[in-house]
Amino acid sequence: MNLIERPRRLRRTAGIRALVRETRLSPDDFVYPLFVCEGEGIRREIGSMPGAFNLSIDELVKEVEAARSAGVRSVILFGVPDEKDATGAQAYAEDGITQRAIRALKREVKETLVIADNCLCEYTDHGHCGVVEDGEVLNDPTLDLLARTAVSQAEAGADIIAPSNMMDGFVVAIREALDEAGFEHIPIMSYAVKYASGFYGPFREAAQSAPQFGDRRGYQMDPANAREAMREAELDYQQGADMLMVKPALPYLDIIRAVRERFDLPIAAYQVSGEYAMIKAAARLGWIDEERVALESLTSIKRAGADIILTYFARELANRLS
Ligand code: PBG
Repeated sequence: MNLIERPRRLRRTAGIRALVRETRLSPDDFVYPLFVCEGEGIRREIGSMPGAFNLSIDELVKEVEAARSAGVRSVILFGVPDEKDATGAQAYAEDGITQRAIRALKREVKETLVIADNCLCEYTDHGHCGVVEDGEVLNDPTLDLLARTAVSQAEAGADIIAPSNMMDGFVVAIREALDEAGFEHIPIMSYAVKYASGFYGPFREAAQSAPQFGDRRGYQMDPANAREAMREAELDYQQGADMLMVKPALPYLDIIRAVRERFDLPIAAYQVSGEYAMIKAAARLGWIDEERVALESLTSIKRAGADIILTYFARELANRLS
């Protein structure tokens, strides 16, 4: 009779471990976030995000081609415009930085899927994600601007629209505007569950989008809330979202799992700038093994239930995985 259970039998060699491995990462899971700025020949490293850059359109094309060769098939774009104003006009300008970048990518690197982040904070001078009046971020007037932004991104050739602003009703507003403009075939990847997180710090340096007064707690979610995440996801599902995102990823694995169990849509998770920066920083100090920790984090995110992972490590790790 067998007195001792021996799970170690299945861990003894690399061959056996590979055979029984439950979760596998593939470059197909990745979406690569990129920051596009004005100018030419610009490839400016972001101080708090080593290995990530502000790229002018010509450099962006090169980066997306290189990522493609490494096996990355999807990118998400964030525009960093020179001009910002109170209502974020460059977000929905036909010749805005993001629109021009999308056009260039669809011309030069046709096969790569281009996702357009849809928000105003990178384009407003006050750095909030919507129209501001008397220190308040107004909901409904912002929806019109987000809808215009979505249509202009689709006109430029975006394959997917990813609204990240957390106004109430943003999915239905964007869906209706896209349909009306003849873009009923363009999917919405909704940042359905987006927390007001300290982990966005490095992104705000990259996009120069830190709020000039107050913070985003009036529209992004309280990190303490899980039931509310289900409500947010449910609303976006009802409003017609095609995919649901949870953001940040590693500190919210419980939320990824809960959204996965409740909804049958593809689930995306965003390993945000601060998650990336922490791994890079500790690795630079020689305190952790960067590649190992990055892969372990991404594996955890996938194991929790994410089908799609937005990660700044996409290009670096794709080679390693393919
Ligand atoms: C825009 C947006 C943000 C991020 C993605 N879209 C910034 C924010 O909400 O402040 C953060 C991504 C990251 O930290 O990597 N609203």
